[in-house]
Amino acid sequence: MPFSPCRVTIKDVMKRSHFTEYLQNDYDLVTNDVEDIRTGVLLKKSTGTEVEIRNGIPRFVPSENYGNSFGFQWNQFKKTQLDSAVGLPLTENRFLKSTRWTPEELKGKKVLEVGSGAGRFTEIFVKYGAKLVSFDYSEAVEANWSSNGGKGEFLLFQGDLYSIPFPDESFDYVFCYGVLQHTPDPDRAYQAILKKLKPGGKISIDYYLKTLRPSPWSTPKYFWRPLTKRLKPESLFKIISFYIPLWLPIDTFLRRIPKLGGALLTLMLIPCWNYVGLGLNRKQRLEWAILDTFDALSPAYDYPKTLNQVRQMVSSPANGKVEVFYGSNGVVANVQKLP
Ligand SMILES: C[S@@+](CC[C@H](N)C(=O)[O-])C[C@H]1O[C@@H](n2cnc3c(N)ncnc32)[C@H](O)[C@@H]1O
Repeated sequence: MPFSPCRVTIKDVMKRSHFTEYLQNDYDLVTNDVEDIRTGVLLKKSTGTEVEIRNGIPRFVPSENYGNSFGFQWNQFKKTQLDSAVGLPLTENRFLKSTRWTPEELKGKKVLEVGSGAGRFTEIFVKYGAKLVSFDYSEAVEANWSSNGGKGEFLLFQGDLYSIPFPDESFDYVFCYGVLQHTPDPDRAYQAILKKLKPGGKISIDYYLKTLRPSPWSTPKYFWRPLTKRLKPESLFKIISFYIPLWLPIDTFLRRIPKLGGALLTLMLIPCWNYVGLGLNRKQRLEWAILDTFDALSPAYDYPKTLNQVRQMVSSPANGKVEVFYGSNGVVANVQKLP
């Protein structure tokens, strides 16, 4: 019988060099894999706690957790919002406009990406040649790995931002978009990720805006959330996948009527994340609408803040430069720690 070697791709494995660089100080590795690691266990030296490595991804948290809805959505819509799949630089433009970081400054720098979801920003960091460590609380890591695992060398793990398994002050950049408002205690979450930044390093976060006036986005969302966040992700997804295709054309029509359209949409209380004007084709717009309506209604936690509240959250005597401004997904805060 001819010998057929089993091809292992980078999508399946954690690089052994990543274990050595990031984890070896605190963990012993138990695996039968000879070179790079697909399956194994990390044993915490101080406590003996076991961390499973599955599909080349270390799992520092149980697979059932408050991020289940995110795991569900990002695995349903693995590539929907990736620039490489959409064919438009929507994420890259948002990234450059919000962080004000440049591809040149990121090249070779140690970056921690917090709450990476399906990896739309991961692919930007990989493209810019950053030395990336990326993680998410949910099974979304599977989606990210399947899209980006083969593209570049980065360490991906499933973990909780409240207990990041690296020493403090070990990253040049920390990036966290669309995440903090979905945690049980956003202020504590911000402090937890800030601790991982080196002195002189830069952090960029974005955060959902708390609007004081009624709006077609936030009013229907916060009206329905007390119910929808309690539904099983599969059930909510069925409901949204049923009504969005029917409602989207009407929503589009109303959105185009100045003032009155917005007022009617607010009063009607039908959540619909309708991205008119981004340049998406009809099929993409429908997919984005289902995805982001689900993303709005399903998370266990959603605590928006005003611009001033975000400013308060990031303010600290350890700050050097601070910028807080309105961005495309709420409020952006860019902070550089004092050297
Ligand atoms: C709205 S998604 C944003 C994903 C990605 N940053 C993006 O913009 O496409 C929020 C993500 O935060 C993750 N998340 C929530 N709580 C977290 C925690 N405690 N630690 C790490 N990630 C968390 C969720 O699992 C989810 O994938």
